[in-house]
Amino acid sequence: MSCSTETGGSATTAYEIEGVAFLGRTFREYCQLFGLEPAALTDKRVLDCPGGASGFRAGAAARGAAAYAVDPVYGAPTEAVASRARRDLRRAMDALNDVEELYVWETYDDADELESHRWSALGRFLADYEASPGRYLPAALPRLPFPTDSFDLVCCSHLLCLYADEFDHAFHAAALRELCRVARGEVRVFPLVDFSTRRYEGLDDLLLALERHGHDPEIRPVDFEFQRGADSCLVVDTHNR
Ligand SMILES: C[S@@+](CC[C@H](N)C(=O)[O-])C[C@H]1O[C@@H](n2cnc3c(N)ncnc32)[C@H](O)[C@@H]1O
Repeated sequence: MSCSTETGGSATTAYEIEGVAFLGRTFREYCQLFGLEPAALTDKRVLDCPGGASGFRAGAAARGAAAYAVDPVYGAPTEAVASRARRDLRRAMDALNDVEELYVWETYDDADELESHRWSALGRFLADYEASPGRYLPAALPRLPFPTDSFDLVCCSHLLCLYADEFDHAFHAAALRELCRVARGEVRVFPLVDFSTRRYEGLDDLLLALERHGHDPEIRPVDFEFQRGADSCLVVDTHNR
């Protein structure tokens, strides 16, 4: 489903899908969009939040990381999670048809190639969800079931900023504080734009709040752009709080 909304007289096109989609990216896509070196994950404590149907936890674990994923959908039996993921993936691909101009078709040649990455991520996720259930924890931001300083790296892909229409600024601030609480190392967030490809309007406020808490936030360019303008990630150094 897609739509055009009138804002102050100008039409804004936005990709629209009902609620927050339970989707997943591959390990390789995560490394690209977060600017991560796979080899650097060895022996690291890593959290993927939200994990969705992504293959990141499995890929990080295969490279020697102690990796966990959190998502409110986890905890259900594999077949129920699989059926939700398949439904959301089909809906997401349908929604994309009407707004292809919001995307840069270089990372993926076309919608078919994009879809094949999503199915591949889903396959890897489902196998790992079945094999390592203790590594997939049901929980929702802004509260995580981990002690302070639990992880060297916390990745937050395609939730904050992107779903600016679903979550207000207070949620964004509280969620980011919580991600930083459980990290003794780094938090990375991608993308920093919403579905209409606008920079998240509360981003400067979030950066100021992070600095006030003694963190060192940086907006770092990455070698990945699919949504137009989504070519950098937020990296928060949480060593010095
Ligand atoms: C678009 S998916 C992104 C999944 C994965 N990070 C990726 O990039 O492939 C968004 C995910 O956020 C999860 N979600 C929704 N509300 C949440 C919350 N309050 N805290 C954590 N995750 C949430 C959804 O269940 C969904 O799996």
